Amino acid sequence: MTKLGCQKAAFTLPDGFHYLNCAYMSPLTRRVQEAGIAGIRRKGAPAEITADDFFDDVDEARRLFAALVHVSDAERIAIIPSASYALSTVARNTPLRPGQNVVTVRDQFPSNTHPWRRACREAGAEFRIVGPPSDGSDRTPAWNEALLEAIDADTAVVTLGQVHWVDGTPFDLMRIGERAREVEAAFVVDGTQSVGAVPFDVEALRPDAVVCAAYKWLMGPYSIGLAYFGARYDDGVPLEENWMGREGSRDFAGLVDQGDEYRPGAARFDVGESANFILVPMLIAALEQVLEWGVERISEYCRELCEPGFPGAGHLFGLRLPADVDPADVRSELHRRNVFVSVRGRAIRVSPHLYNDESDMEALADALRECGVRAELT
Ligand SMILES: Cc1ncc(COP(=O)(O)O)c(C=O)c1O
Repeated sequence: MTKLGCQKAAFTLPDGFHYLNCAYMSPLTRRVQEAGIAGIRRKGAPAEITADDFFDDVDEARRLFAALVHVSDAERIAIIPSASYALSTVARNTPLRPGQNVVTVRDQFPSNTHPWRRACREAGAEFRIVGPPSDGSDRTPAWNEALLEAIDADTAVVTLGQVHWVDGTPFDLMRIGERAREVEAAFVVDGTQSVGAVPFDVEALRPDAVVCAAYKWLMGPYSIGLAYFGARYDDGVPLEENWMGREGSRDFAGLVDQGDEYRPGAARFDVGESANFILVPMLIAALEQVLEWGVERISEYCRELCEPGFPGAGHLFGLRLPADVDPADVRSELHRRNVFVSVRGRAIRVSPHLYNDESDMEALADALRECGVRAELT
């Protein structure tokens, strides 16, 4: 595997800024920007947009994402407008009985809590939140063990990310998925903060659903994303009843007689107007680029970049500050020095990508030192 060098030239980031915040929002490559502009121009001549154009680009996006996450059947991929939309679809289609529980980890992104809170409330089920250890034991293994222990015979769903969105804590999806299958619980992964930046293999992990907003590690535009739906959801009901998810939708003349039958696979869960003529070409260009770079190489690049100052860290990590330091003050100081990171909870969240180089990591370390703050990896 040949290593990747810094890819800043593929982007239009202004000089002098140290943008270490891909977990907030990735910048768009020139290629993705151009695809969006071409998409705008295209609708200047609508006569050239055919009925097949409503479906072919969307199917190409499905194929590219399927390749990225190792799904053999691209029909299992849906086009979604947001992670919350797909997670709401999953929650609506996962039966819950009184006394059952939904297991998750503490401080999930709200798009992965609201649908389940509501489902639990309506069913009389428990939303079981598992926090990190509080007794000083090694955080990552102890948190993973606690999660495994929280899954019991009454668990109907286990839902979490591959890494924690606040500080990058990795979750052992292989073991958690196995445990979920043992109790026949649905295994749901919000891949928004990892897919595209670290390898994700649906065939190996066997989740029932994987949901990804595209505007972070998939390097795509805002308001579009992709989701994988496994066989558990084959007869599912979509959030909205749209014509494109129905059999015969390519036959525009015949739409007046369209029947109720859904198309096979996950197309029924697509957002209405999934063939967005601006966002879909951008998404395709972004996925092609991520696949060309290669997820393993992106992951390795981020890891090596972190090694000198933040050993063991990768594409997304958290810095813990002393208890008397307000993270918001530190972030403001960093911004003043043109170092861009986020505060999530009590952690300073740092998330580099291929457009970063050593100078960005040094600027972060220097700025923390100049602020007089001792930051430790969470
Ligand atoms: C883990 C995670 N999931 C999802 C999202 C975005 O959710 P949505 O697409 O529903 O706005 C974010 C945004 O920060 C996130 O961190």
